[in-house]
Amino acid sequence: MLIRRCHSPVSNRSLTIIIIVVTVFLLTLLAKKEHSNGTRQYELPFGLAIKSCPSDLDHLRRKQYGLTRNVVYQKRCFRGVYSNETSPRESVADIDEPLLGSRADILDLDDECSIISSSAPLDQARSCEPIPFPISEPFPAANLSNVIFGVATTLSRLQDSVPQISHWMSGTGALFLAIVVDKSVSDNSLASLEQLYDSHDINLTAIRPWNCTFDVNEQHFAIIRDLHDYSSEETQWAAIIDDDTFFPSPYSITQLLASHDSTVPAYIGGLTESQGAIDYFGVMAYGGAGVFMSMPLIRQLDSHVDECLAASLTREGDGLLSGCIYNHTQTALTAVPGLYQLDMRGDLGGFYESGVFPLSLHHWKSWHQAPVDKMAKIADFCGECFLQRWRFNGDTVLANGYSISVYEGGITQPELDLIEATWDAARAYEDTMGAMRDKVDDSKKKSYRLIDAEEIDGKLRQVFVRHGASDLDGDGETEAMDEVVELWWEWPQDDEY
Ligand SMILES: *[C@@H]1O[C@H](CO)[C@@H](O)[C@H](O)[C@H]1NC(C)=O
Ligand SMILES: *[C@@H]1O[C@H](CO)[C@@H](O)[C@H](O)[C@H]1NC(C)=O
Ligand SMILES: *[C@@H]1O[C@H](CO)[C@@H](O)[C@H](O)[C@H]1NC(C)=O
Ligand SMILES: *[C@@H]1O[C@H](CO)[C@@H](O)[C@H](O)[C@H]1NC(C)=O
Ligand SMILES: *[C@@H]1O[C@H](CO)[C@@H](O)[C@H](O)[C@H]1NC(C)=O
Repeated sequence: MLIRRCHSPVSNRSLTIIIIVVTVFLLTLLAKKEHSNGTRQYELPFGLAIKSCPSDLDHLRRKQYGLTRNVVYQKRCFRGVYSNETSPRESVADIDEPLLGSRADILDLDDECSIISSSAPLDQARSCEPIPFPISEPFPAANLSNVIFGVATTLSRLQDSVPQISHWMSGTGALFLAIVVDKSVSDNSLASLEQLYDSHDINLTAIRPWNCTFDVNEQHFAIIRDLHDYSSEETQWAAIIDDDTFFPSPYSITQLLASHDSTVPAYIGGLTESQGAIDYFGVMAYGGAGVFMSMPLIRQLDSHVDECLAASLTREGDGLLSGCIYNHTQTALTAVPGLYQLDMRGDLGGFYESGVFPLSLHHWKSWHQAPVDKMAKIADFCGECFLQRWRFNGDTVLANGYSISVYEGGITQPELDLIEATWDAARAYEDTMGAMRDKVDDSKKKSYRLIDAEEIDGKLRQVFVRHGASDLDGDGETEAMDEVVELWWEWPQDDEY
């Protein structure tokens, strides 16, 4: 293969200067951080703690959690019971007991996480009787060895994206082709990027663009040629994704592809949810949701890539691709509901709490914020249960992997059938996303959002947090205190089902 090079590699001398500048910058940032701690707990550098906590609470001190020194802490435990009789997804199953409130402790995270006040005498951190919970079985392992995924982005974004990409690609046998668009990137950097992904069981090939004058949008179309060249005999599908395209369940993607014929030209993707964007950019597969093309279509396009790049007025990758397909092939778009471009801004809580089972998610670290890999961790254990909803005691809704919401005065099934209009100008999305209800005022809905999920000794621990004021001591002096709810899931052993 021809060695591509866009610019000469960075010299050692300029590298040294860059390192010094970056170090000084980071130190400045660190110093600033210490000053702006406010009520957040104090943490010594280099992970030194003054008084450490018991191992089952110590994670609460993690800096990235950003919790207040004192927190209100509750813990609940479930034992998943695999069942084929779980209720259909649209209806919210009822559980006739409360999820929260039976007891809460206030912990001091800077003092061994000791209990400084408690609503009941028992130590709940240590006594957590698991409640049996009927839940769907895990999906079978996904085999994506017939798919080549392609992305065009920078080296650092590829490094940062490992946790999210590995959630769905690791161990699936998929081929992953990355066009690294940095102005200059060394062979060593490309090789160590491949090693990084290899250590997560992902077969990555990292290359430079075949024409460095293209900008990153154009690269998203020009990659067609590389997908063609780097596909294997096994490859039936080529997918173009953004570096923030996330698939909660790779098995669902294998199911989607299996329902289409890969021996004829096929162009499969998701429309934007924004009617304005459709009016402006047109009907096409919006790349952030993931675009899937059969190899016969890729072969047809391969010979037209230069021509389309030269002819096209639009320079957006998605528009170049659809224009080239419409101008040079007979293939129409198959629009798949469930592939989400998520062209919305603000709080997407109403979407994530709507009972949706998304095939893909996008814009989760830019237009909105959602820890998608942590959220979807539950899908590894009970597949279909991701974002499934249960209602406890008529007023508390668990949207699995995303949130726990306590509605003052309860919430009805007809209300839960509607999407809560939480994000910016949400009502404008009713035509594309479905019927909505008004956003519930913060004073009437207490929300705990998931910030972390981690497997510990075969159990899954989900951490939900509600930042803000809490005045449990009732002395009128409101101290800003975060509230933490932990859900611990244990699962049947293999020989039990
Ligand atoms: C659920 O159904 C599948 C397929 O029909 C079967 O293999 C599995 O054993 C069933 N699981 C339970 C818990 O009944
Ligand atoms: C995936 O499927 C291919 C083709 O059917 C097969 O050769 C391969 O062994 C499978 N991989 C895994 C990990 O099951
Ligand atoms: C990655 O895929 C390429 C192309 O199919 C193949 O030649 C190579 O052996 C694969 N590497 C690994 C580590 O599986
Ligand atoms: C790269 O693209 C530019 C136009 O953007 C074109 O003039 C040039 O010939 C192309 N080079 C190659 C090697 O295709
Ligand atoms: C497709 O054809 C239209 C009409 O001739 C043209 O405006 C557009 O730029 C073409 N797009 C591509 C990608 O070739």
